[in-house]
Amino acid sequence: MVTISRIRTEKIPFWASIRFKILLAFFVVVGTSFLVAATRLTGVVSDYLTEQRTREDTQAAESLAAVYGPLMQSADSATLTSRLKDSADGLDGRLLLLDTDGKVQFDSMRDLCGQRLRLAEVVRVLVMDETSAYGMHREDRETVSRMTGETEAEYVAYGAHEMVGPRGRNGVLLYVSRIQGMMDSMYAVSSQLNMVFIIIAVAALALALILSQVLTTPIVDLSRTMRKMGRGDLSVRVQEKGGGELRQLAENYNTMAAQLENLDKSRNQFVSNASHELKTPLATMKILLETMMYQPDMPEEMRQEFMGDMNHEIDRLTGIITDLLTLTRVDTAGGDMKREEINMTALTGEVIRLLAPAAEKRGQLLAYRAEPGLTMTGDRNRLSQVLYNLTDNAMKYTQDGGSVQVSLTGEGEELVWRVRDNGVGIPLEDQEHIFDRFYRVDKARSRETGGTGLGLSIVRQLVNMHGGTVSVESEPGAGSCFTVRLPKDGKGGERA
Ligand SMILES: Nc1ncnc2c1ncn2[C@@H]1O[C@H](COP(=O)(O)OP(=O)(O)OP(=O)(O)O)[C@@H](O)[C@H]1O
Ligand SMILES: [Mg+2]
Repeated sequence: MVTISRIRTEKIPFWASIRFKILLAFFVVVGTSFLVAATRLTGVVSDYLTEQRTREDTQAAESLAAVYGPLMQSADSATLTSRLKDSADGLDGRLLLLDTDGKVQFDSMRDLCGQRLRLAEVVRVLVMDETSAYGMHREDRETVSRMTGETEAEYVAYGAHEMVGPRGRNGVLLYVSRIQGMMDSMYAVSSQLNMVFIIIAVAALALALILSQVLTTPIVDLSRTMRKMGRGDLSVRVQEKGGGELRQLAENYNTMAAQLENLDKSRNQFVSNASHELKTPLATMKILLETMMYQPDMPEEMRQEFMGDMNHEIDRLTGIITDLLTLTRVDTAGGDMKREEINMTALTGEVIRLLAPAAEKRGQLLAYRAEPGLTMTGDRNRLSQVLYNLTDNAMKYTQDGGSVQVSLTGEGEELVWRVRDNGVGIPLEDQEHIFDRFYRVDKARSRETGGTGLGLSIVRQLVNMHGGTVSVESEPGAGSCFTVRLPKDGKGGERA
């Protein structure tokens, strides 16, 4: 019993779909790599800018300290302040000179004079005795504007450097540097990088969407087609688009579907043919029986004749059913073929002896020639049925007094049976069909002879089971020759 498992029809959740997985993979790869690249790049740019600025500012403070240190006590206040203002303007910053207590003595912008500035950089020089100190700071706007005079700025840098006069250290030079511009350009770089990142991410997403669409459409299509086929419509096919594995998948699927459809058709055909063949003898018997029923006073002779006809029809029915059983058994249980060592020379003789009386009755010459000692591995009953069917045909389709010649020869690794007759022959256009089930060349004539058209299809199946081939050569009016080639090892099942 074959159980057909249920076909999945429920919708796949988005997160479980191939589409989602492709999107996710793309996003993770492209997203993380660009995030890392953008962060690293911003870091490198800002490091470079701040380092350069620190160096410049520190150098400026140093050289100014060298200039103003000696002037701290000697110069007069007005001159010093105006010189300081000029220097500060040249640097675009503010310069303050503090005494050793940290109190502002001179200021290029004047308004901090006399105040004590508690800046970390000043403390580092005055208290911790460092020669110079530099630091960038983010402060509230008020503080920044008080120190630099800029109204909207948030960043400021302080560079402090000790001043040395004739009698040693005499104060600190404080350079207030305006770094807002530099910070702005740093932000501009990073926001531009972010912009590029977003654009690339969006493009990657779009690309991933397209790619996943391209990849999944054929799969979805295939799945839909399979569902339809599962519901019984064997004529549906998938579109063979694109190239690569997906196309191959579609092609293979279509080939399989076509084979299934063919199989289904031939099975239906077989059932309808079989029923038709079984109905004919039954109908004949019914007529005979009814005639006998309604004519009770039928002469005894006639009754005997009718009974004989009915008996004949029953034989025919039995024959057809036996053939049908043979065919289905070969179909479904091809695997349980017996594998025994068979003396084919002897087997050929046995089959001929079985048919000899029938040949004699019709005045036909039935002759055979078998090479001695030929053996092969296979199923004895099935092989003898092959030769029986072929010889039976040869006699059936040969006129009374005709001749049938059977031969068995060994050719290399093969055994060859040839069954030759000088009978009616087979027209060329029928030769390719005679091995089909229920196919008969001349329907009326073969019904007369009792044929159903199953004999040769059984022959082909049994020969295939043994890994062999069967073929025909024939000329209408002159006779036919059937050739069966069987490998001596009879390994059909494994080869097929
Ligand atoms: N030796 C032959 N000479 C001429 N025609 C043949 C010969 N063998 C087969 N045929 C043709 O091939 C057809 C199919 O043969 P097959 O043996 O399959 O069926 P059948 O003989 O009609 O019936 P059965 O099922 O009883 O064998 C026959 O009906 C006949 O027309
Ligand atoms: Mg036959």
